[in-house]
Amino acid sequence: MFGYDIGISGGVTAMDDFLIKFFPKVYERKKHAVEDNYCKFDDQFVQLFTSSLYLSALVSSFFASKVCSKYGRKLTILVASLFCILGVTVTAAANNLTMLIIGRVLLGVGVGFGNEAVPLFLSEIAPIKYRGAVNIMFQLLVTIGILCANFVNWTASKLHPTGWRFALGLAGVPAAILLFGSLIIPETPTSLIERGKVDEGRKILEKIRQTENVEYEFQQIVHASDAARQVEKPLKELFSRSNRPPLVIGIALQFFQQFTGINAIMFYAPVLFQTVGFGSDASLMSSAITGGINVVSTLVSNYSVDKLGRRVLLLEACVQMFICQVVIGVILQLNLTATNTLGGTVAKLVVALVCVFVMGFAWSWGPLGWLIPSETFPLETRTLGFAFAVSSNMLCTFIIAQAFLSMLCHLKAGIFFFFAGWILLMALFVCFFLPETKNVPIDEMVERVWKQHWFWKRYMDDGEKKQIEV
Ligand code: BGC
Repeated sequence: MFGYDIGISGGVTAMDDFLIKFFPKVYERKKHAVEDNYCKFDDQFVQLFTSSLYLSALVSSFFASKVCSKYGRKLTILVASLFCILGVTVTAAANNLTMLIIGRVLLGVGVGFGNEAVPLFLSEIAPIKYRGAVNIMFQLLVTIGILCANFVNWTASKLHPTGWRFALGLAGVPAAILLFGSLIIPETPTSLIERGKVDEGRKILEKIRQTENVEYEFQQIVHASDAARQVEKPLKELFSRSNRPPLVIGIALQFFQQFTGINAIMFYAPVLFQTVGFGSDASLMSSAITGGINVVSTLVSNYSVDKLGRRVLLLEACVQMFICQVVIGVILQLNLTATNTLGGTVAKLVVALVCVFVMGFAWSWGPLGWLIPSETFPLETRTLGFAFAVSSNMLCTFIIAQAFLSMLCHLKAGIFFFFAGWILLMALFVCFFLPETKNVPIDEMVERVWKQHWFWKRYMDDGEKKQIEV
C-alpha cells in the first residue's frame, strides 16, 4: 500500500489529462515550446498532491503508537487498511483539487498506522536468527508496490481521459489485501503479554515457533513486559538518558534515508527522465526499470543482512550512492542547459547511473532505515520510539516531495551534489555512531550493544542506577 502510493504519484503528475483537470496552469507551462528543462513541473500544488500524504502520515503515526500499545499491532493494521480504502475511494472519485488532497490525507493516515505497526509486528514475530530477513519483507513489499505502480502508470497513461482515475483507484487492491491480511494474522506474543494476556501470548508463541519449547523466549518477553509495565510515562522515559542511543539512531537513520535523495527518484523519476530528454513513454518505461532493480536488489539485503550485518551494507552503499550522485551531477552540469536535451547515449548513461544508485539504496538504507529502529528500542518505549522514527521519515519524505521540483528548478544539476554531501555525512555517522545489532536479541540490546559502544556507553549509567534502586 505504502509502496504503491510512492510509485503512483510521480506517474500521475506526468499525465496530461490529470494536469489539465487539476493543474491547468502547469499543463500550459509544460506545453510551451520554449520551456526550462529544470523548471517545467515546478508548482507548489503539484508537489502538495504528492506530499500531503506524508504530512498526515507524520501526525497519525503518533496516534498509531497509542493504538498499537493499547490495542495491539493487529488492530492498528486493520485501522490502517480502513483508512486506505477510504482514501483510495476519495482520490479516485475526485472532481476537484480539494477532494484530491482530502483523499491523499486519508491515505496518509492509513500509511501512518501501517508503517507504525507492520515493521514492529514483523520484528516481534521473527525468530532472532532471521529477524533482519523477516523485517525486510516490509521493504520488499514496498518495492513491489512501487514497481506495480510503475507498470500501472505506463498502462494508465494511454487511457484517455481517465487513466489517472484508474491508476489511483487500483490502490484499492493493496488496501484490500491489507484488510484481508489484518483479519487473518495473529497478534504478536509481545503485545499480548504486555497487555496482560499472558496465556494467550504463550499459545501464539508456541504456534508461530511450531514447538512447545519456547520457555526461554517466553520468559524474556515476560521480563521485558514487567519492566515496561513499571513505566508510567513512556514519553518521559523515551527522553531519559538511557533511551538516547536508540532514539537518536532511529531518527537519524530515517532522516538520512530520505536525504540520500531516493524519493527524488521514486516520486519524480518520470519527470526527471523527461527533464533529461526522454519522451513521456520512454520516461515511464525507464521508471519501471528502476522499479524492477529496486525489488531485485532488496532481495540481496534479505539474504545478507543477518550474515554480513547492518553496518557493512550501509557503508558499502554510501560509497556507491555517493559516486552515482556526483557523476550524474557532473554529467548534467556539463551537458544539460535550460533548453537542450541530452544525447541518446548520455541520457542512457544517466538512467544507468540512477539504476546503480537505486541498487545501493535498496540493499541498505531502504530496508535498514526501518529495521534498525524496530529492533533497538526496549519494550517500554518501543511503540512511541518507533513512532518518532516513522514520523521523522514522513517529515523528511514530505520535505523532499514538497521541495524537490523547486530545488531542481533553482539548484539545477547542483541538486545531485546536495544529496552527495548528505551521503558523506551519513557514512561518517554509521562509522562512528551505529553499533552492529545483527543476531542480538531485542531485549538484550543494553548489555550487548549500548554498554559496549565507545560513545553510547556513557548514556547507560542511568539504567544501572535504576537497577540498583530496584
Ligand atoms: C523509503 C521510501 C522509499 C522506498 C524506496 C523506503 O524504505 O522509506 O521513502 O520510497 O524505500 O524503495
